[in-house]
Amino acid sequence: MKIWTNPADLKQNLADEDWTKLFAPAYAVKMKIYLDGKFVDSSEAKVSVFDHGLLYGDGVFEGIRLYDGNIFRLEEHLERLEYSAKAIMLKLPLTRDEIRAATCETCRQNGLTDAYIRLVVTRGVGDLGLAPWLCPKPTIFIIASKISLYPQEHYDNGLAIVTVPTRRIGPASLPPAIKSLNYLNNILGKIEAKLFGALEAIMLNEQGYVAECTADNVFIVHKGTIITPAASQGALKGITRGAVIDIAAELGVPLRESDMTRYDIWCADECFLTGSGAEVIPVVKLDGRVIGTGKPGPITHRVLEAFRRRVLIEGTRI
Ligand SMILES: Cc1ncc(COP(=O)(O)O)c(C=O)c1O
Repeated sequence: MKIWTNPADLKQNLADEDWTKLFAPAYAVKMKIYLDGKFVDSSEAKVSVFDHGLLYGDGVFEGIRLYDGNIFRLEEHLERLEYSAKAIMLKLPLTRDEIRAATCETCRQNGLTDAYIRLVVTRGVGDLGLAPWLCPKPTIFIIASKISLYPQEHYDNGLAIVTVPTRRIGPASLPPAIKSLNYLNNILGKIEAKLFGALEAIMLNEQGYVAECTADNVFIVHKGTIITPAASQGALKGITRGAVIDIAAELGVPLRESDMTRYDIWCADECFLTGSGAEVIPVVKLDGRVIGTGKPGPITHRVLEAFRRRVLIEGTRI
């Protein structure tokens, strides 16, 4: 089978399964990875089996987008990384300036102008116990890859998603604002979504309120107002979510944070998800119920268009 590395080469209208198979997995593409201060070939970019990021999911990360040579909201991503690290008492091995420079250089080394960037800091190598204080040096690596997440048809027609049984971890256990390497409950949610034939899924918090999706924030439009669950309901403070909040103000569309149940989504006029990978993607069905007209709505369109304009001008030139 031919392996494509460029989404632009992809024929439209492929089934989702075929679509994922047509892309070379990121790990199979030759690229330069930033790893602990050096650029190494992807085949040589290895971390120890004793790294606590691997042994325990002990670490933090960011998923970032590069658009036409511009890293979208890089400062916000770096700030969130710093807060995540602070919250788990992980001292970042580099300063903000150094991480910014390494991120830009990773894109340049790979000759990329559009990319998905994964920035990861783990607790580093330690012994087999939990104790993070026995891990003297964090591991940091940055991958910049061409990968693209959803085919265009889903932006045109909208996604049909489901609510999954797995709940978002409660704030008393792991505050959802921490973008940690512990994604197992989101992964279970993703598996359940696939079992129900959906690409994304709503995850509820322990109280039964909508928190977010497995890797996206959720918004609805009701009677002209955009509504999204508060971070305190179990949502990550998404960078794209923040951009949409700014875009709503720019467009003059009222927006508020509010508790949300599945009922609110079922009875919404429009629904869309946001994430660095997904950008702004319409949802037209939840749990078999058609949302609004069953087509991506006008406010979703306006937000998506404004978002696509913004990503080209807002951020850090590499
Ligand atoms: C659980 C979760 N929620 C929301 C998001 C969206 O956040 P952002 O817009 O910063 O990518 C992500 C993205 O990685 C995520 O993993």
